[in-house]
Amino acid sequence: MAATRIPSNSDDAPRLEHRLRDVGLFVRQAFHTFRATGAVVPSGPALANSLTRFLKEREGSDSLSILEAGAGTGPVSRVIAAHLRPGDTADLVESNPEFADYLRELVGTDPTMSRVADQLTVHQTLVTNLGTDRRYDLILSGLPLANFNADEVREIFDYYFTVLRPGGYLSFFGYLYTKEVKAVIAPREDYLRQARSSWVVEEWVNRYSVGTERVLANIPPAWIHHLQKPDEK
Ligand SMILES: C[S@@+](CC[C@H](N)C(=O)[O-])C[C@H]1O[C@@H](n2cnc3c(N)ncnc32)[C@H](O)[C@@H]1O
Repeated sequence: MAATRIPSNSDDAPRLEHRLRDVGLFVRQAFHTFRATGAVVPSGPALANSLTRFLKEREGSDSLSILEAGAGTGPVSRVIAAHLRPGDTADLVESNPEFADYLRELVGTDPTMSRVADQLTVHQTLVTNLGTDRRYDLILSGLPLANFNADEVREIFDYYFTVLRPGGYLSFFGYLYTKEVKAVIAPREDYLRQARSSWVVEEWVNRYSVGTERVLANIPPAWIHHLQKPDEK
């Protein structure tokens, strides 16, 4: 009789342990600072994989400089680290000090991230405070735009398009149906605030979109927009 294959604990246990630690910290922070955290659990692998599409599908041999805004407990940072080549660099930016400390620990201890530790820098700050003297080929944003007001969203997109190189890509995500749910359950003021901030997002999407996708295999299900800054003439 053929033996049933039992998944090897030695392969799966560390990954599961990391995921449980990530989720535990994320849930605690979401409870304390929901406006800034913007989700109840970290992004799952399907969302992290789709968000990093332009890193994984890159063409040519030029090294890339990458900005991740709102890295949280690092589900997207780990995929970035797994696809870094020699010469690439990634700035992982996170405003919450607990998450930033956790990310620094991951850079030292997580097998995927520690392999490229000298190419990763964790910054504990608001992304718009990083400074405009930097330039990036790729920006991956997990910021909870739906929780911000229209002026904050405009400031964030202005910043991204200032530091993005011509021809570079911005990929960012949000959650499906938040506006529709808020229309039913949220106070009118909050619904209107989100409607106004989503119009700002739409302005940028209408100008620069090169692709949109839905990721249903995430909690909650998400959309991703990919934008490209035009090349200089
Ligand atoms: C929806 S969570 C995403 C976390 C992680 N990228 C993921 O996919 O699980 C948003 C993250 O953005 C961080 N954040 C919110 N506003 C920020 C800002 N202005 N600058 C940098 N990080 C910010 C929050 O602390 C939180 O960790």
